Parts: sequence; structure tokens; C-alpha cells
Amino acid sequence: MQSKENIILSCRSLTKSFGEPPTLAVKDVDIDLKKGEFVSLTGRSGSGKSTLLYMLSGLDQPSSGHVYLENKDIFAMESKETHIFRNRNIGFVFQFHYLLPELTTLENVLMPARKMNEEGTRKDFARTLLRDFGLEHCKDKYPSQMSGGEQQRAAIARSLIMNPSLIFADEPTGNLDTSNGDKAMAIFQKTNRENGTTILFVTHDPDYASLAERKINMVDGMIESDQIQSHSKKK
Ligand SMILES: Nc1ncnc2c1ncn2[C@@H]1O[C@H](COP(=O)(O)OP(=O)(O)OP(=O)(O)O)[C@@H](O)[C@H]1O
Ligand SMILES: [Mg+2]
Repeated sequence: MQSKENIILSCRSLTKSFGEPPTLAVKDVDIDLKKGEFVSLTGRSGSGKSTLLYMLSGLDQPSSGHVYLENKDIFAMESKETHIFRNRNIGFVFQFHYLLPELTTLENVLMPARKMNEEGTRKDFARTLLRDFGLEHCKDKYPSQMSGGEQQRAAIARSLIMNPSLIFADEPTGNLDTSNGDKAMAIFQKTNRENGTTILFVTHDPDYASLAERKINMVDGMIESDQIQSHSKKK
């Protein structure tokens, strides 16, 4: 039996349906994520990965089922409370980075801090992240003036600005070439190793999936396998 204290996030019977007649995108999913785990989520296009991530992070309501973060049911909270709780605890990297086009890189990275009225106190950290990610030269640039790799690194920096205990990354390497993809994965590995951040990332790349210590695979909205890898390539 694993100790409950080690679990940072869990979901029970999580289900999401879309449309009329309803089709199920996620069916009855149970997952426990432990503190400090580095987990890959794979599955064919349309298998429900993004839908699952949106619900786990509180961005989208389930049709039924529950998500518990630090043992609190996130959908039982008032929506404002959920919003604050999510901003404080969860970083999210979208499948398509979703930087705001009218904001500079520094402003985009600071956006989650701005929502929490912590822009001033997080500015130095934002600059540190930009330096660590090789983005100093992009500080005052807008997304349209940056390469895909730079934009994705900025989106990752944004997910880290609040020092979240948990990061969901939806195909963070999907639109990147090998070199930028490797860089993005290295950032996640370092964050996981040095800060103990729990990270769940979606990937279609078997090499990246094998960096994880735990691999979850989805088929048709359900968890098909959930395995600890004793020989992960985690460095
Ligand atoms: N807002 C929506 N309205 C209707 N159907 C949706 C919506 N979002 C997702 N779906 C459907 O739910 C299913 C799962 O979609 P989801 O985006 O979670 O898949 P995915 O595993 O992330 O795929 P990919 O690897 O292509 O990103 C798909 O059949 C999709 O068409
Ligand atoms: Mg997706």
C-alpha cells in the first residue's frame, strides 16, 4: 500500500463526453500521481490525452468523476478558489503554446504571476528563467518575432514562474525539431530532479517517453497500461 501523503494528485472515475448524442473522450479514468514523479502519457491521436490533462489541471470540468489535488476536490471549490489554487500549484504547457501575441516574452512568462498580483516579486525569477532557457535576447520580443523553439521554451518558462508543485505538458516537443525538443525535455528533467516537481508530459516520441520513470498509455479514452520503468533513461 502506498502512503496517501505521497500522492499529490489523483482522479477517480474521471469521464468526459462531448456532443449530442454524447461520445466519450475520457472514460472512467483513475490515476494517482506521486510527488516527484516524472510520467509520460502516450496514445494515438484522439485517444483523450489533452482532454484528460485539461480535467486533471482544473481547466475543464469533467462530465463525471473527481480530481483531488493535495486531497482537495478541485471541482468542489468555488470557481474563483479553483482558479487561485490552480495558479498556485499547477503549471500547464499547452499543445500549441498559446503565448499571448500582444505581450512580450517577459510579460508572457510573468502572466501567471500577474494574475496572482505577484508580478513584482517574480520579475527576477522570470529573468533567471529566460537566461536559463537561452531567451535573454527575446525578452522584449513578441511571439510572432520568435522561432517555434523559442516560443515553446517561453511557454515552458511561463509554466514554471509560480514554482508549481505539478506541471502538465501537452506535447511540449510536438512542434519542435530534435535539437529544440531535446532542450525542452532537458528543462523538464532538470526541474523534476532539482525541485522535485511532479511532471506529466504527453508525447508521441518513444525516445522521450522512455525518459520517464512511469509510462501511461491511453486507448479510446481509457488507461490501457500504467507501468513503472525500472530502466528509465532519466538522468
Ligand atoms: N471541445 C470538443 N468538442 C467535441 N469533441 C471534442 C472536443 N475536444 C476533444 N474532442 C474529442 O475528444 C476526443 C479526444 O480528444 P483529445 O484532444 O483529448 O485527443 P488527444 O489524445 O489529445 O489527441 P492528439 O494526440 O491529436 O492531440 C477526440 O475524439 C476529439 O475529437
Ligand atoms: Mg492532444
